[in-house]
Amino acid sequence: MQPIQANGYPILFGENGYQFLNEFIEEKNYSTIFILVDTHSNEWCLNRLLPLLATSKTIEIIEIEAGESEKNIHTCVELWTVMTELGADRKTVLLNLGGGVITDIGGFVAATFKRGIDFIHIPTTLLAMVDAAVGGKNGVDLGTLKNQIGVIKVPQLVLIDTDYLSTLPKNEMRSGLAEMLKHGLIHDAPYWKAFKELSQVDFADFDTLIHRSVAIKNEIVMQDPTEDGIRKALNFGHTLGHAIESYCLESNEKPTLLHGEAVAIGMILESYLSWQKGLITAVEYQEIKTAINAIFDPVTFDQKDLQPILDLLIHDKKNEYGKVQFALLQGIGNIKINQEVENELIIKSFEDYQR
Ligand SMILES: NC(=O)c1ccc[n+]([C@@H]2O[C@H](COP(=O)([O-])OP(=O)(O)OC[C@H]3O[C@@H](n4cnc5c(N)ncnc54)[C@H](O)[C@@H]3O)[C@@H](O)[C@H]2O)c1
Repeated sequence: MQPIQANGYPILFGENGYQFLNEFIEEKNYSTIFILVDTHSNEWCLNRLLPLLATSKTIEIIEIEAGESEKNIHTCVELWTVMTELGADRKTVLLNLGGGVITDIGGFVAATFKRGIDFIHIPTTLLAMVDAAVGGKNGVDLGTLKNQIGVIKVPQLVLIDTDYLSTLPKNEMRSGLAEMLKHGLIHDAPYWKAFKELSQVDFADFDTLIHRSVAIKNEIVMQDPTEDGIRKALNFGHTLGHAIESYCLESNEKPTLLHGEAVAIGMILESYLSWQKGLITAVEYQEIKTAINAIFDPVTFDQKDLQPILDLLIHDKKNEYGKVQFALLQGIGNIKINQEVENELIIKSFEDYQR
């Protein structure tokens, strides 16, 4: 699988990536190597990585509990403290081995430790491979508000090794699939078509699909690394998706949704908005709704859930001048950014989602 050049760093694929990684670490002459894992990537992924790391440098492993609830500033303080106690210095490199929580928080901790040390992402979930580890966004949640604190700083390199996916639970695979579907919907209609009938997806060729997804995300980020324009396309499904994710996290009655599960609902709702704004046809909307509903379990929203979800939209990072901004589909494979939508239409999108 060909490496992909991102803005200032390479994205490497498969076994060959480890040789590059080892040479890179040698060349950089890092003082120590710190590896950040969570409980699951420690259990399932570290035993693959360690034998493949050919280095005589000291390696320190730091572990945090698994889960989104750990992605906060308190965990950062613990990590900065442990790194200091273990003697990390400005020539330390941090290897983030895990899902999007590890790459997000690890990137942020590294970008801010001693004003910034090098970091490398080795994503171990599908979602982190096709999305979180690519593009340089790092950060943590503020309470239940997603990704409110963070920086844009790119890693030294990203190594995507799909062997890690063999232990990933099915619902986590589905969560990553949501972002792959999004990449097709916003940028590549034939790629979307490849997924539309999931039963017809050739999973033997899944590595190629992952590679294409990474390439799409990278193409968009390269055009607009700081999200002043077209990078907002990647937020399709995420404006409502993030609000739903935060709401379900706070609520005792709602199921806690994985990131991709919330984004899947967000994509249906925002496709409805696209249809109502005349940007896609009714047929295209139904096609999207049917395809996503075939993969993801429905979630029920009552009338009383809607106002708190609308309130959460106000905190969306994509808002400008106090206005909620959507990235909506303009036909399948294209996007129109900076779209304002009235609350009544958002409420209608939830009503249609339940039908
Ligand atoms: N920075 C970005 O551009 C960006 C983009 C999308 C999502 N994100 C963030 O990514 C996070 C979600 O990422 P995620 O879905 O990877 O969640 P996650 O990191 O919580 O991983 C999901 C679960 O899988 C476990 N796991 C990881 N690798 C495993 C493996 N190989 N085998 C078995 N279990 C494994 C983890 O321990 C965790 O329990 C969210 O915080 C989201 O905000 C960031």
